[in-house]
Amino acid sequence: MSNQLKIKGYDYIEFYVGSAKMWAYWHAKAMAFNIVGYCGPETGVKDKTSYFLVKNNMKFVITSAIKPSNYEVASFVEKHGDGVKRWSLSVENVQETFDTAVKNGGIPVRSPKRFDDKNGHIEEAAIKLYDDAEIVFINRDYYKGIFRPGFGKPIQKINITAQDSGLQEVDHVVGNVRTNEMNLWENYLNKTLNLETFLEFGAGDISTQYSALLSKVVRSKNGGGGIKNPINEPYEGLKKSQIEEYIDEYYGSGIQHIAISTNNIIATIKALRENGVEFLTVPESYYDLLKEKKLSKMITENIDDLKKYGILCDTEGKGYLLQLFTKPIGDRPTFFYEIIQRREGAEGFGQGNFQALFESIERDQEARGTLDKE
Ligand SMILES: [Fe+2]
Repeated sequence: MSNQLKIKGYDYIEFYVGSAKMWAYWHAKAMAFNIVGYCGPETGVKDKTSYFLVKNNMKFVITSAIKPSNYEVASFVEKHGDGVKRWSLSVENVQETFDTAVKNGGIPVRSPKRFDDKNGHIEEAAIKLYDDAEIVFINRDYYKGIFRPGFGKPIQKINITAQDSGLQEVDHVVGNVRTNEMNLWENYLNKTLNLETFLEFGAGDISTQYSALLSKVVRSKNGGGGIKNPINEPYEGLKKSQIEEYIDEYYGSGIQHIAISTNNIIATIKALRENGVEFLTVPESYYDLLKEKKLSKMITENIDDLKKYGILCDTEGKGYLLQLFTKPIGDRPTFFYEIIQRREGAEGFGQGNFQALFESIERDQEARGTLDKE
């Protein structure tokens, strides 16, 4: 536990999507999540349906409106497409954390509320994040049922086989914001949640021949408490920044990607590829350079294995990190996943890979016709 807000770490992440059932199937089949809970008409909730998925330390909730009268979900999906509505933090005392966060400058969205059923109770509150997202404070210590009141066992007999992904926990959550919004949200998160700015990438640090972005990483102080939240904003370039593309296609600022950790990235990427997950492609020349760097960093993985599965390896700073990014998983070029393995205390976010990565994203932008400025 890191600070005055008594934050224990990430709890659940909730997506608002067009079809929760299909998204739940995809996460089970492609990412090897387990569908363990369900909420909908059969459990007494009439206008929306949610699936509760678990994989090791991760808890995801995937929600759809099933009536247009559920304006909150329906309007979110109409505007943004499928995306992350909220990420949550497990806290000791919801009222105290909410009061402190709001006193520090947090914008209240939902005051603390208790939800009860025969299995106990949970408490929850929320503050605003970006255009249309939320940070939730939750305490589920006194609830013995499935996830929270309103949920039961899945109604459908969902029997899905998948290669085990070995995915462990949320490593970081990244936001994309408009020009001149990055510092605003950096200050907001630092003040509200008592975080600190850990890394900054300015003009020229992250750019290709064509496009650029600025980025700052805020995190729990001294790395404790587990929150890591990079924020990106577009920067002027000859062509359209991938962050600008996101803002245009998402119709505003929001969550760009979630990074999920693994203890064996080669096995994970092999399994995910077999399950049909699509990743960004890396040029072969990347691995020639990596072979030269390997000598200085004692990389224990076989470079030919990394090349075979297209895994990136960043040798900047302490230790080294292995990572790879999926293509956007929904219909719009907005939200995607990162798979990450930190080795020997690596603390970075793959800055050494940005060049190779952005060139790969630009190739996809070109194919979508969103690289050239209008
Ligand atoms: Fe990342």
